[in-house]
Amino acid sequence: MKNYLVTGGLGFIGSNFVRYILTEDETVKVINLDKMTYAGNPENLKDIEHNENYSFVKGDICDRDLVEKIFSDQKIDVVINFAAESHVDRSIEDAAGFIKTDIEGVWNLLEKSKKYGVERFIQISTDEVYGTIAKGSSDESYPLLPSNPYSASKAGGDRLAYSYFVTHKIPVIVTRASNNYGCYQYPEKMIPLFITNALEGQKLPVYGDGKQMRDWLNVIDHCDAIRFIIENGVPGETYNIAGNCEKMNIDVTEKILEILGLEKDLMSFIEDRPGHDRRYSLNADKLSLLGWKPKKQFHSALEETVLWYKNNENWWKRLKDEEFKEYYKKNYGYRMDIK
Ligand code: NAD
Ligand code: DAU
Repeated sequence: MKNYLVTGGLGFIGSNFVRYILTEDETVKVINLDKMTYAGNPENLKDIEHNENYSFVKGDICDRDLVEKIFSDQKIDVVINFAAESHVDRSIEDAAGFIKTDIEGVWNLLEKSKKYGVERFIQISTDEVYGTIAKGSSDESYPLLPSNPYSASKAGGDRLAYSYFVTHKIPVIVTRASNNYGCYQYPEKMIPLFITNALEGQKLPVYGDGKQMRDWLNVIDHCDAIRFIIENGVPGETYNIAGNCEKMNIDVTEKILEILGLEKDLMSFIEDRPGHDRRYSLNADKLSLLGWKPKKQFHSALEETVLWYKNNENWWKRLKDEEFKEYYKKNYGYRMDIK
């Protein structure tokens, strides 16, 4: 058996990963360390709660004593660090938690990995660290030019992890994935926000002209890529993980409305996000040469995603009625309709 310390395993990608790995690999035990911020939801892993290969620790990756105890209680073979403050708009409002978790938290996990030794340390970074890409695509050697507090803090954690490979020989691998979509994504992110707003008959708030481009990666493909990288990736290397599916926001929005049989007039063009990156585009040839490519097709996987939110109203309605309501009022209330 291998012990995987998964951090942030109650969030969107982390919970999908925990379910995925426990289903795919019976030789893995997962210890899930999650602070349960607004984005960490135990309901995301309700079906896994009693799995004998799963245990949960509520806590902060920045907590030195707690992380020390986890490492001293059992041999940790692999660390997969998903834990982060992850929403760009929140980082524009207040960056404090981002600097803390996305940099200091990474440092704490690296220090304990140095002290106790691990086989792999996977730092889940993001394509946002490259900043906006005017032309072509960013490969792993492209300069890092993050342009919002979220991506800047992620770039800090990304390079800090690499420095522990160079300086302390910790077997660190950094992954940089593009925009994920799928089930259990907190409804503050564009795709789940737009699906759930549409289901509630509310407007879909498109920032600026809606012509910003993102590359869309299904969350299950992302989990599969991470597993592949744990098994086949080379320590010290960074791997881009792309969905090979670049789309303008406005096209994704129209597609969601089309799937739900709703009219385009539900779209509302509002004031842009400050510092909004116009385009992300990954060159993922390196991972492809190693032997991994995404399998999901965007259109059918988006349909599946819409259906999941349609069938799981209880999951998202509660989130939208509680903490999110205040956040939503604050963040969209002041934005002007520009159409
Ligand atoms: P999320 O916001 O849905 O989940 C984050 C999880 O981390 C939550 O469960 C939260 O409770 C936990 N957490 C936050 N601070 C913590 C702390 N200090 N200690 C312990 N747990 C803490 O995020 P997500 O969308 O699932 O993203 C997961 C990771 O993937 C992040 O590192 C993010 O930067 C990266 N990433 C996300 C995307 C995307 O499209 N969502 C794309 C590329 C990379
Ligand atoms: O690219 C990877 C990143 O993708 C991850 O590192 C981040 O954790 C994740 O949050 C995501 O960042 P984005 O800013 O790209 O995702 P978001 O869903 O917030 O926005 C996607 C696009 O949609 C972006 O161009 C902004 C736009 N948007 C977003 C919201 C929330 C809107 O037009 N209206 C909205 O209400």
